Amino acid sequence: MGILSGKNVLLGISGGIAAYKTASLVRLLIKSGAHVKVVMTPSAKDFITPLTLSTLSKNPVYSSFTNEDDDDGVWNNHVDLGLWADLFVLAPATANTLSKMTNGASDNMLLATYLSAKCPVYFAPAMDLDMYKHPSTLQSFKKLQSFGNIMIPATSGELASGLVGEGRMAEPEDIVRFLEQDILSKLPLRGKKILLTAGPTYEAIDPVRFIGNHSSGKMGFEIAKAAANLGAEVVLVTGPTHQSVKHASINVIPVVSAQEMYDAVHNHFETSDVAILSAAVADFTPKEVAVRKIKKKSSTLTLELEKTKDILASIGAIKKHQYLVGFALETNDEIENAKGKLKRKNLNLIVLNSLNDKGAGFKGDTNKVTFIDDQEHITEFKLKSKTEVALDLINKIITQIDA
Ligand code: CTP
Repeated sequence: MGILSGKNVLLGISGGIAAYKTASLVRLLIKSGAHVKVVMTPSAKDFITPLTLSTLSKNPVYSSFTNEDDDDGVWNNHVDLGLWADLFVLAPATANTLSKMTNGASDNMLLATYLSAKCPVYFAPAMDLDMYKHPSTLQSFKKLQSFGNIMIPATSGELASGLVGEGRMAEPEDIVRFLEQDILSKLPLRGKKILLTAGPTYEAIDPVRFIGNHSSGKMGFEIAKAAANLGAEVVLVTGPTHQSVKHASINVIPVVSAQEMYDAVHNHFETSDVAILSAAVADFTPKEVAVRKIKKKSSTLTLELEKTKDILASIGAIKKHQYLVGFALETNDEIENAKGKLKRKNLNLIVLNSLNDKGAGFKGDTNKVTFIDDQEHITEFKLKSKTEVALDLINKIITQIDA
């Protein structure tokens, strides 16, 4: 699924012959995973029927302020529609509609929605070549762009009039590609490589047994998704978990032991811009791994354990430009202990989970965290889903690496 997946796309259709192509445009947007609603000017209905568009978009189509067939005075709320949209795409955008948009006219549902929309607005002009070149049209393009609206330029070719020239609406495939590329180029983590660790590690005792912990890996996987959705290229080094993720920008590297996690992290750290180590790495590992399954011959068994390498501290010691984030799970003197870890491991930010908070920690879907940065700014959050915590963390990192 691409960048349009899950996005609310409002398609605004005005009355030009290119409106017939919007059936394909709606199909392509739906295929790319977007939710689509259509608002059209009354004259657009002369070129394509609302029934076609509502069938393809799986949503009602809006073309007037009230439902014409109803006498019950139900009002189509242009404000709600404008706020619903993550992007508003006007295609085809006629000279008339563009001109009205520049002047704040709102004498139809499409224009009123345009004035209400707070999201990015794209417009794909379609008109005859002389209309396209007319100074008043050129002025409309310029003015709308000065409002921050984004033009999807028309192409040259045969026009409905039979004349050949500039003014053909961009093809539906090209409009979708334009939207995707524009959104991708503006993502805040575009061009950044983020290295992540997640889940537990398993330390082998013998061929069938290990020392592990209850970490679900969910927090790390949510962070990976949040970062990738904001444009980052993510390397996710994960211990054994039940989590899975399919995203073109997330490279999952499965590992088992702390040593394997250490090696994978060191392979990628130098080329990373940000490293977030959320794994619950085993602090100790058996000194010797029995080659054969240990038999229960004696009444007690003593395992000799040795410390694992502290992965976070090891990259803290060699970091250059990288922004480094660690996690801490504390039961007492939480803030002081977390601050100590931040300094000792040379971090830029530490995410503190307190075991005293209900709903925080290892296994569940929620977490309650406090961020402490290297300027000693402390931000406490309420109990949230791990998806929301991941977004808070990524947003914090974006403000820090941009600063
Ligand atoms: N960490 C690591 N490698 C280890 C141990 C921990 O990378 N061998 C990372 C974790 O991913 C986490 C942070 O270090 O980001 C946790 O630090 P740690 O000192 O282990 O904290 P606690 O587990 O809370 O340890 P302590 O028992 O010392 O309080």
